[in-house]
Amino acid sequence: MNQDELKKAVAKAALDYIAPRLSSDSIIGVGTGSTANFFIDMLADLRTEFDGAVASSEATAERLKGHGIPVYDLNSAGDIEFYVDGADEANERLELIKGGGAALTREKIVAAVARTFICIADESKLVGVLGQFPLPVEVIPMARSHVGREIVKLGGDPVYREGVVTDNGNIIIDIHNLDISRPIQIEEQLNQIVGVVTNGLFARRPADLLLLGTKDGVKSIA
Ligand code: 5RP
Repeated sequence: MNQDELKKAVAKAALDYIAPRLSSDSIIGVGTGSTANFFIDMLADLRTEFDGAVASSEATAERLKGHGIPVYDLNSAGDIEFYVDGADEANERLELIKGGGAALTREKIVAAVARTFICIADESKLVGVLGQFPLPVEVIPMARSHVGREIVKLGGDPVYREGVVTDNGNIIIDIHNLDISRPIQIEEQLNQIVGVVTNGLFARRPADLLLLGTKDGVKSIA
């Protein structure tokens, strides 16, 4: 199985998990990225079984609407039962690095609201210690240099992601070579830096269920 086939397999597993648990007024939170896109395309087959979705990015909203799935603003949506999204890295405690697609802030907001966060990923994303993947941080543009200097004090190497503007009008700094052996602590320290909107560590609110695509089938970690 190639990587796309593994991504499709976990998207299908997420669909199979939520399908029997949906009702006509269910609202589903939907993430961003290539794995989430496979999930969106499959979710279209179930569109009469639930009310609608909340999207974690403009790109996801467009894709959902393209399938005729109603997209709600989070503030007017009630309870979000499930949030389904990919990740750039995951560990066995279901702590994640996200934001490779620059959607981390809205992803973190929807994950915070959802009752159950289902992470879908191929096995290449599972790591022992987070941080091989550079950690994305969304930053208010005028704070770019200040935030960069503060990141250096924490031991990381900040790299400005050229040409990227988030859906919120901000920039992304990717942190290389950061020691993330204590993810909750680093998540909190980064969020204390003035000018940081949020960072891509999902450790204070990890996933509840990780569906991992492996060559031997989909593995569930909860
Ligand atoms: C976007 C994300 C994505 O979930 C992450 O980048 C994984 O993407 P893909 O499924 O394409 O590997 O956090 O901001």
